[in-house]
Amino acid sequence: GKYRVVSTKSMPGTRWIRLLTDNDCRLEICTEAKTILSVDDILALIGDRCDAVIGQLTEDWGEVLFSALKRAGGTAFSNMAVGYNNVDVEAANRNGIAVGNTPGVLTETTAELAASLSLAAARRIVEADQFMRAGLYEGWLPHLFVGNLLKGQTVGVIGAGRIGSAYARMMIEGFKMNLIYYDLYQATRLEKFVTAYGQFLKANGEQPVTWKRAATMEDVLREADVISLHPVLDKTTYHLINPERLAIMKKEAVLVNASRGPVIDEVALVEHLKANPMFRVGLDVFEDEPYMKPGLADMKNAVVVPHIASASKWTREGMATLAALNVLGNIKGYPVWGNPNQVEPFLNESATPPP
Ligand code: GLV
Ligand code: GLV
Repeated sequence: GKYRVVSTKSMPGTRWIRLLTDNDCRLEICTEAKTILSVDDILALIGDRCDAVIGQLTEDWGEVLFSALKRAGGTAFSNMAVGYNNVDVEAANRNGIAVGNTPGVLTETTAELAASLSLAAARRIVEADQFMRAGLYEGWLPHLFVGNLLKGQTVGVIGAGRIGSAYARMMIEGFKMNLIYYDLYQATRLEKFVTAYGQFLKANGEQPVTWKRAATMEDVLREADVISLHPVLDKTTYHLINPERLAIMKKEAVLVNASRGPVIDEVALVEHLKANPMFRVGLDVFEDEPYMKPGLADMKNAVVVPHIASASKWTREGMATLAALNVLGNIKGYPVWGNPNQVEPFLNESATPPP
């Protein structure tokens, strides 16, 4: 292979490997056993000759790594993630390194996990599971693990982009919830879907579902029964959920986060969970991964999973393939497909799994 491509982690599937090795690339997959590579580890991988790197969201891709990649003759980097808050895109631009991400292929998988967390929290699935395993079940009782009925309640979506819209649609279609959403952009397709589905329900003699685009985020927090967060993490969304905003939410609301941990002030969240036992959360991401803030692990009203929202086989193989396509495209002189600068995804949200 003419081009040296480094992947900082082994990734699912083999298509991404063949894609590179069949197209003039010599691929080196890091076999280092530790989970998270440091900047120094990655500098050693880049070495003095490297054309492109496929990296992970746990790595800090800033000036140090991009200038090293440039010195090694590199021109491309792809994150194996749609989120790129771990990537300093300006530093990459300064060093002439094209940056790619992997949108589209994880939309439905991530939305399904957010829906799973919504149900798990609303119906207290994990708490009930632990109760069974602890041998505490003594027979059916009217009060045992009573949770929330979603039908007819309002689902609130903050950030109605690809993932937020897919999640909203699942909750509306699956559970006949009404929608309130907040986004700087109008989610036209989502609005059209809810209108059409509402008309369908009405024609069948059922209560129609409704939608509302909120003027402020606070309106969503006040009105919704289940709230899912799907913003991009940047300076404007850091600690979006703070003590003041927690305070205006319904006492029995469900809050779900499968975006990025720092969107929630996690210390404030733990206090809120302690003070409001009927308030429930489903969390896929945390402020200081892999850690949880003190007290969170003890809260029965929290369902916690380790950043697995995109973890379906089809999606992870798709992310790996897209990351490989991103760097290969650059090497071969094409634009990088998933490019945060262009916001022009290679696959769109209607991408369907291969047969
Ligand atoms: C995962 O968190 C991603 O951003 O793809
Ligand atoms: C519950 O199990 C019921 O039969 O109502």
